[in-house]
Amino acid sequence: MKIAIGNDHAAVALKNHIKKYVEDMGHTVINFGTDTNDSCDYPVYGEKVGRAVAGGEADLGILICGTGIGISLAANKVKGVRAAVCSEPYSAKLTRMHNDANIIAFGARVVGEAMAEMIVYEFLNAKYEGGRHQRRVDMIGDIENR
Ligand code: RB5
Repeated sequence: MKIAIGNDHAAVALKNHIKKYVEDMGHTVINFGTDTNDSCDYPVYGEKVGRAVAGGEADLGILICGTGIGISLAANKVKGVRAAVCSEPYSAKLTRMHNDANIIAFGARVVGEAMAEMIVYEFLNAKYEGGRHQRRVDMIGDIENR
């Protein structure tokens, strides 16, 4: 798959770790930065990854900031994005299976490298179940259209 990844200054080291982890799994990573520790604004990167996923340039996205919250809030303003903040792998798996989440977000100040790997592994390997969940996912999209 093509995986878009983005982060702010709080998450450069974890982003680099996860980028390699995802590439080692055989995926192609599109890195939207930032790649320096200089202070920057997380909405910029949330929007970049959101647009890449919603526009089809990437299949799924990964966003990392200090908490994962601000950058996911920004991404969720892009129509078609369903970005979920997850701090453990069970939620990461279920948000793909039930919510058809297309972006996973987490915090570099919240989870360590090993937990981040598990979160990403479950997110990328889970499959959306559709079925009874589709009506609810459609309802989320309806909110965007009202
Ligand atoms: C940056 O200090 C921090 O506010 C940001 O990384 C993120 O945690 C916001 O939600």
